[in-house]
Amino acid sequence: VGRLRSRVLSVNKETARFFYEQLNAPTEEAAAARAYWRGRGLSDSTIRRFGLGYAPNDFRALRMHLRAKGFTEEEMLAAGVEKRSEKGNVYDAFRGRVMTPIFDLRGNVIAFGGRVLGNEKPKYINSPETLVYKKSKAMFALSIAKKSTSRRYILCEGYMDVISLHQAGFDTAVAACGTALTAEQVRLLAEYADEVVLCYDSDEAGQKATARSLGLFSESPVKVSVLNIPNAKDPDEFIKKFGRDAFDRLLNGTSNAIEYKIQKVKSKYDITRAADRVEYIKEVIRILADGVSPTERDIYAGRLAEETDVAKAAILNQLDAAVKAG
Ligand code: CTP
Ligand code: MN
Ligand code: MN
Ligand code: MN
Ligand code: MN
Repeated sequence: VGRLRSRVLSVNKETARFFYEQLNAPTEEAAAARAYWRGRGLSDSTIRRFGLGYAPNDFRALRMHLRAKGFTEEEMLAAGVEKRSEKGNVYDAFRGRVMTPIFDLRGNVIAFGGRVLGNEKPKYINSPETLVYKKSKAMFALSIAKKSTSRRYILCEGYMDVISLHQAGFDTAVAACGTALTAEQVRLLAEYADEVVLCYDSDEAGQKATARSLGLFSESPVKVSVLNIPNAKDPDEFIKKFGRDAFDRLLNGTSNAIEYKIQKVKSKYDITRAADRVEYIKEVIRILADGVSPTERDIYAGRLAEETDVAKAAILNQLDAAVKAG
């Protein structure tokens, strides 16, 4: 197993090199792939740093290449870069896609994510779990981010978000790609980060993932905060539209977990109406009654009193009752 594992790593490394080189093949599809990365605003140096590439639209190009390098089909299949059909034919798993390698902390290539150039489905195909790739433990770009002098990490949803952020100078961007964040990934991040800024997509799915991840971080020593992306669907699109300074300003205005939860609740109500105010206050009290320190309770009760124009004493009374009721 130890030997196959190291062969799988070699297959992956050679495959990443192949995809990178294919980007410069003298073909129309390679030109389209270069145009794709360029169209997404990536420089040559970003392409090189992340080892981005292109998998030609061919069922055997990679297999022939790997065979010439001395790899067996068993090794290629174990790496997940080849698949076997029901009829028993072995074929390239990634075809006609722009490719992003995923590295482990030592710089080994452990997996790939491949994106279509257009709007076809599925948008991404990722490597299956293999001897060297456990999704729940991998963290995209952590091998780069860990070299940063900053211990404030930016956790995004997608490969493109991370790559764009790095190109814009935010060198602690990482992502748990193709999977919901796990407790193992939180522990891994805690080795490098003092603070993690959750920076998921602004859509419903991203907001759900934010709420879920806040729960995971609540049991971690890492300080967690939330960055909401306004007027764009994700950090990549935001940077493209508004630039790096605008993103920097967002980073200076992140919310902590409590503030984020309160904002979410508030957006459901029209607090100029008395009935809405009552419901809003009830919901915020439920947030503050659970696992929030007395100091924090006092601070947020004060803010709530001010924005709803209700006496702070009344809010604190209700909060005390909620805390006692558990
Ligand atoms: N993802 C995936 N498979 C899909 C869709 C998404 O594995 N079919 C993962 C990818 O890691 C992707 C991340 O989820 O990067 C976020 O998905 P999404 O927001 O849809 O993609 P973007 O990263 O925004 O991709 P792009 O900007 O290229 O459309
Ligand atoms: Mn070759
Ligand atoms: Mn998304
Ligand atoms: Mn995107
Ligand atoms: Mn996205």
